[in-house]
Amino acid sequence: MNLADLRARLAGLDRLHLASLPTPLRPLPRLRAALGPETPEIRVKLDEETGFGLGGNKVRKLEFELAPGRLRGATHLVTTGGPQSNHCRVTAAAAAKLGLGCVLVINGPEPEAPTGNARLHRIFGARIRTVASRAERTAALAEVADEIAGAGGRAVVVPLGASTPHGALGYVQALLELHDQLPAESDRAVHIVVSSSSGGTLAGLWAGLALLDRPDLQVSAISADTPALELRERARALAEGALELLQLPTEGVEAVGDRVEVFDDQVGEGYGLPTAASEEAAEWMARSEGILVDRFYTAKAAAGMIAQLRSGRFPTGDRVVFWHTGGHPAVLA
Ligand SMILES: Cc1ncc(COP(=O)(O)O)c(C=O)c1O
Repeated sequence: MNLADLRARLAGLDRLHLASLPTPLRPLPRLRAALGPETPEIRVKLDEETGFGLGGNKVRKLEFELAPGRLRGATHLVTTGGPQSNHCRVTAAAAAKLGLGCVLVINGPEPEAPTGNARLHRIFGARIRTVASRAERTAALAEVADEIAGAGGRAVVVPLGASTPHGALGYVQALLELHDQLPAESDRAVHIVVSSSSGGTLAGLWAGLALLDRPDLQVSAISADTPALELRERARALAEGALELLQLPTEGVEAVGDRVEVFDDQVGEGYGLPTAASEEAAEWMARSEGILVDRFYTAKAAAGMIAQLRSGRFPTGDRVVFWHTGGHPAVLA
C-alpha cells in the first residue's frame, strides 16, 4: 500500500509514547566472520534498546495496548507471566508512570530472593499474586479484576505478552522502521530472525509484510515454547486483527504467508531451559559482538539463526537481521 497513507494511519492511532525510537540497526561483522566465508551479512535490530523500564519488545506493544483512550477510568493494570516475565516488568513500569496500581499474576513458586525481572516487578511497585501453574493464570486474572472492582476500582487486564491486535501494531510500526533503515536492494532477500512466544511480535511483522511493498523481506520466527503450527495460527489471526484496527483489508496476511516461517526446533526441554545450541549462541553473541541474549527467548532465537546460517538456508548474497527483542534482566537472574 501507499506508505504515506500507512504512516498517516499509524500516526492517527491513539498511543502511549514510551519507547526510544528508532532502535539502532548495527552490523555483526565478527559473528559473520566466525561463521565462515559463505555467511551473508548479518545485522542486529536492537529492540533491547527501546528504553522504557529496561526495554525490549514489550515496550513497542504496550504503546498501543495501553493507549490513553483504552485506559479511561482505570485504577489498575493487571497482567500475567512467568517469574522472569519481561512483559510483566514493562507493564509494572507503565502502571507506575501512569499512576495506576499493578497486580501481576505470576506462575511458579514465590522466590526467596527475587532476582532479574522478578526483582524489577517488585521495584516497580507491583503486587504479586502467585499461582502454581500456567493453567491457573487466566482464572486468577479474572479473580483479581473482580476484587479490584469489588473495592470500587477498575482493572484493565492486559492479556499475556500484550499479544493482541493492538499490541501487534507496535511491530507493524517496527517493520516500517526497518524498511526505512534497510532499503531494498535488487536480488538480495532480507531474512529477519526473531524470537516468538505469545505471537504478537510476529503478528505485527507479518501484518507489516502484508502492507509494505517489500517482497525481499522474509521472517523466520523461532519459538521459545509453543508448537510451530499453533504459534503460526495465533500470529496469523492477530495479524488480521491488527489490519482491521488499521481499517485495511485482511487478505494480504494470507497472501504473504509463504514469507513467514515458524520453527520450534530450538525449544529443547522447554521454556527457559538452555540447550547446547542456545548456550553456544549466547557465548558467541557475548564474546564476538558484546551482545547479551537471555536464556528464555533471545538465546534460542540466536541459536536458530546460527543453525540456519550453518545449514546454508540463507544464500551468501542475502542479508540477515537478528531482531533482538530484549530480555536483559533475565541474564542476571
Ligand atoms: C525478550 C523477549 N523476546 C521475545 C518474546 C516473544 O514475543 P511475543 O510474545 O510477542 O511472541 C518475549 C515475550 O514473551 C520476550 O520477553
